[in-house]
Amino acid sequence: MKLLDIYAKMKGDLDVIERELARSVTTDHALLTETSTHLLKAGGKRIRPIFVLLAGKFGNYDLDVLGRVAVPLELIHMASLVHDDVIDNAQTRRGQLTVKAKWDNRIAMYTGDYIYGKALMIATELHNPLIHQILSKAMVQMCIGEMEQIRDFFNTGQSVRNYLLRIRRKTALLLAISCQLGAVAAGADYKVSNGLYRFGYNVGMAFQIRDDLLDLLGTEKQLGKPPGSDIRQGNITLPVLLALREPAIRERLLADLQHIRLTDGACDMKPTLKMIRKSEGIKVAERLAERYIDKAIATLAVLPDNPAKKNLADIAHFVAKRNY
Ligand code: IPE
Ligand code: IPE
Ligand code: MG
Ligand code: MG
Ligand code: MG
Repeated sequence: MKLLDIYAKMKGDLDVIERELARSVTTDHALLTETSTHLLKAGGKRIRPIFVLLAGKFGNYDLDVLGRVAVPLELIHMASLVHDDVIDNAQTRRGQLTVKAKWDNRIAMYTGDYIYGKALMIATELHNPLIHQILSKAMVQMCIGEMEQIRDFFNTGQSVRNYLLRIRRKTALLLAISCQLGAVAAGADYKVSNGLYRFGYNVGMAFQIRDDLLDLLGTEKQLGKPPGSDIRQGNITLPVLLALREPAIRERLLADLQHIRLTDGACDMKPTLKMIRKSEGIKVAERLAERYIDKAIATLAVLPDNPAKKNLADIAHFVAKRNY
């Protein structure tokens, strides 16, 4: 089944989540409502709520309860994007102006904080400290991941392990707990929620590797932002790290990265992108993403039989090949 068919099949429940998301950020403060609704209305794949709902099918599926996990998770994701665009100095996201570009950095910081606050308000309607603990731990890890990324800007000597640890924190954990918390909220047993966690974690690793590949390979139309944004800001992602190991291009790539750094990204990136696109690094990174997807699929095998398994597998396959 394609992703669009999964959306269609889940449409009724996803519509409820969508209404709850819109309601959750609406307050009598006009500007906060406007800034937080701006990103919500721009779209997005809603992968995290979808994971929650599918994982919930492994237990007692109650949309009212699952919504109180799905909405906070999407809100945490959204808040992290509002802040991410400040850090990454990004002008567009989802094909629209970012909050920081439409308003300014200060407004974006408080919009992100506000959305985080709203996420916690909704999650605490479920009187389940385990859920609160898992959510807050993931938020802490995301901050550490982003801090490490800043520390490693333009660090061409960093290891692949370093990169993997970073994306584990900044992306994979939130997808892992989306799967885990869907099962926890539905009262599934530990073996099931833990299996789903591992599934989400492996999909999440592939998800960020794919995101990093797309930043190099995609078109502005596909990405909703210009390609090469990562290297422009000094974020050395897996394909670039691997390309740096190729003797034929290493020196040129190092010189280009240095030039990008010295010009603060205000230079022509096309030749650098072209060189990276042709490198082996792209293929090796693609293979690593596929390996994570294979691991995710293998994890599903240990879970009890359930029709949701097929949908989770389809999403995993979509992630490995996604171009948006
Ligand atoms: C973007 O996440 C940020 C990453 C973690 C790579 P998504 O690709 O899920 O963003 P939307 O919600 O679909 O826009
Ligand atoms: C993921 O990294 C962002 C978060 C986990 C907050 P990116 O910086 O690559 O995300 P995009 O590409 O801007 O969506
Ligand atoms: Mg970023
Ligand atoms: Mg970014
Ligand atoms: Mg990215």
